[in-house]
Amino acid sequence: MLTTTDPAVAAEALRDGRLAVLPTETVYGLGARADLPRAIARVYAAKGRPADHPLIVHLADAIHLAAWAQQVPDYGLALAEAFWPGPLTLVVQRTSRAGDFLTGGQGTVALRVPSHPAFRAVIGALGDLLDDRAVGIAAPSANRFGRVSPTTAAHVLDELSAHLHDDDVLLDGGPSVVGVESTIVDCTGPLPVVLRPGDVSEDDVARVTGLAAGGSSTVRAPGTLASHYAPQARVSIVSPDGLAGRPTGDATIGLLALAGVPTPDGFVRLSEPESSADFARVLYSSLREADALGLLEVLAVPPPLDGVGAAVLDRLTRAATT
Ligand code: TXA
Ligand code: MG
Repeated sequence: MLTTTDPAVAAEALRDGRLAVLPTETVYGLGARADLPRAIARVYAAKGRPADHPLIVHLADAIHLAAWAQQVPDYGLALAEAFWPGPLTLVVQRTSRAGDFLTGGQGTVALRVPSHPAFRAVIGALGDLLDDRAVGIAAPSANRFGRVSPTTAAHVLDELSAHLHDDDVLLDGGPSVVGVESTIVDCTGPLPVVLRPGDVSEDDVARVTGLAAGGSSTVRAPGTLASHYAPQARVSIVSPDGLAGRPTGDATIGLLALAGVPTPDGFVRLSEPESSADFARVLYSSLREADALGLLEVLAVPPPLDGVGAAVLDRLTRAATT
């Protein structure tokens, strides 16, 4: 895999049907042209992902929604208007542009317009090269199936070096600023349903749409498995009180908690985020750090559930499920 900071190099790779790992504001994505079944097949193979787990298609701009989606309800348009470019994915009825090989054969497609400048440069350049501004880049998180998503180029090299070709590209765009995957909202029913929490909160969805977000969805989101985002170390969710009751002096245990939570004697402090947003940003690198240090267990004290805090608790819960 060739590492670069030049978006044009990544765009040329994609044009030619090669894979390009791209930075986004949420996590790094393993990108391929969304119109090339053979490139998409390589994405599934590199991740070790089951074929019935559909991919998110990333677009350059909200104006291209009409090329990929039909019957988008007004609340879906309002969400796109409010949060694109940004960490929000909409599940909508697909047009023929979204092939079965992307959607796992479902009649819906997941769409997102990322805000990361390097990503936007790549998709803009690809649109120019192909003379198709509505071109889509399909990109799951650039980790092996079920593992922790990468938020730096170094994480991507750890995860995927052995699974990509020499002429595939890794575009280094620095650390991801959000740190957890996008919020996914099912827009196929009468009300929006949050399928995966992220930086756009349920309150944000309700505020923008004027509709209660929540309820249940008939849409299948196979990636939201109970066990996911898991490091090798065992993850346990604890309260500050539960922490105080732990025996001290165990150097095989890591702690992930807000800065105000003291570290019990002997524990390895993985990070000290100042806020829920900060917690989200360092979450995955902290879990990777635990594995790099050979820790057996990570104790996590979740942050307040405001904003992206609910997404942090969601990922910790899945990481803790074995
Ligand atoms: O922030 C993100 O969303 C990152 C960056 C790279 O954009 N991408 C990402 O992709 O997290 P991935 O493939 O790791 O997760 C996509 C999720 C999966 O849970 C999948 O099941 C769900 O989106 N999904 C995709 N298409 C869907 C559809 N048509 N209906 C329901 N869920 C869908
Ligand atoms: Mg993923």
